[in-house]
Amino acid sequence: MSFKQGFLWGGATAANQLEGAWNIDGKGPAVPDMCTNGTKEFPKRITTETLSDCYYPSHEAIDFYHHYAEDIKLFAEMGFKVFRFSIAWTRIFPTGMEEKPNEKGLEFYDKVIDECRKYGIEPLITISHYEMPYALVQKYNGWYGRECIELYEKYCHVIFERYKHKVVYWLTFNEINAGTMPMGNVLSLGTVKDYSGTIMDVKDDPKIRFQALHHQFVASARVVKYAHENYPQFKMGNMICFVTSYPATCNPDDILASQNAMRMSNWFCSDVQVRGYYPEYAFRFFKEKDINIKMEDGDEEILKEGVVDFYTFSYYMSICTSAAPNKNMTAGNLVFGNKNPYLEASEWGWQIDPKGLRYVLNEIYDRYHIPVMVVENGLGARDTLEEDGSIKDVYRIDYLRKHIEQMKEAVEDGVDLMGYTPWGCIDLVSASTGEMAKRYGFIYVDKYDDGTGTLERKKKDSFYWYKKVIESNGENL
Ligand code: BG6
Repeated sequence: MSFKQGFLWGGATAANQLEGAWNIDGKGPAVPDMCTNGTKEFPKRITTETLSDCYYPSHEAIDFYHHYAEDIKLFAEMGFKVFRFSIAWTRIFPTGMEEKPNEKGLEFYDKVIDECRKYGIEPLITISHYEMPYALVQKYNGWYGRECIELYEKYCHVIFERYKHKVVYWLTFNEINAGTMPMGNVLSLGTVKDYSGTIMDVKDDPKIRFQALHHQFVASARVVKYAHENYPQFKMGNMICFVTSYPATCNPDDILASQNAMRMSNWFCSDVQVRGYYPEYAFRFFKEKDINIKMEDGDEEILKEGVVDFYTFSYYMSICTSAAPNKNMTAGNLVFGNKNPYLEASEWGWQIDPKGLRYVLNEIYDRYHIPVMVVENGLGARDTLEEDGSIKDVYRIDYLRKHIEQMKEAVEDGVDLMGYTPWGCIDLVSASTGEMAKRYGFIYVDKYDDGTGTLERKKKDSFYWYKKVIESNGENL
């Protein structure tokens, strides 16, 4: 068998994309609650108030808040060993700044975790998944404010203590490297104080962005250290959006441009979080961009002391990079790149590259030599609900099968792979566009882009396929 005994098969979600109940039981607004719907052509917008003539997809999402028991039962039926989900910071601290946590919010995650445990499903919790409390955006310009470090620590201390007997695996920040890219202003850093407009038009200031990212590094390291000292049973992970870059040609200029893209987009954050210090190449980048990171006494030490135990990442696609400007661009997850003539793309323009997954798994493991987990992967596609109620998503099965085959190769290559949680195991709201039409799930949810739908859940063909994959520990693809 290629995959080890106890391999963590499962699925992944994020609170703001599935829970709904955005203002129920004391929850405060987070950045996604201020984001309207959009499409590939018309980017979603962020507004400073919720406007009555706009639709905000996170407000109801797929209402996991009231359907969690039914949904986890379906995950159990597929045989999930692990369920990756996030805790909404604003359920626990509605503005991020309260003294005391919101008991109702804590109770909700007690119920979710207990429901997982009932079926022997291991929770894998993302502490912050693109869900910055909006009050912190307005007060501190998001993570640009160093104050957020302590507020995040307080939130972590509360959830660690509350769930210490039920949860082992924690990820400090989803796709922390979003902060290396302009898209990170809205998604992960919340550096959008007073801004309303499309998520593509946010004024980007790399000086602010990298300072905010530094605060996230310190926050992550502090809570990792705290967890290691107080809860030795915990396993603490990072999480990177890995968008593999290949040189567009064998021209040495393209090779160097691609190496640079790999470093600053993919390696930089994990070099800090796994090795415990800023890598040398970052200093040249900062110099050229006139970025001076303000570090306080103790920051460098804490980065060393708070290194993670395992490395996790999302993988959907790859791009090519050339030194010269190129008009033949492909869309992508957080970044754009040159098209690769050897690859096909999804309807949303994300290039499908299963072998790229084997390639990055090897690169990651060679570099860090700690256990690795693929915590997001999948195909966003439109599904058709047939008259008989079935959903024949062969394209999704094909995508996932090819990626699992390549994970198998990577394991044969020697990579210590812990598990696999495909993204959006149940249909949910798209992070980039706010659409429901861009579906990833094994489970179809009757919910549409205009907000209509019964919220009924239906099993897709991929549901039955994935169940067999898990049953056979990845042998029956
Ligand atoms: C990852 C995010 O970047 O990609 C998820 O962690 C997101 O939150 C996923 O949903 C897929 O992207 P999208 O835009 O298709 O939802």
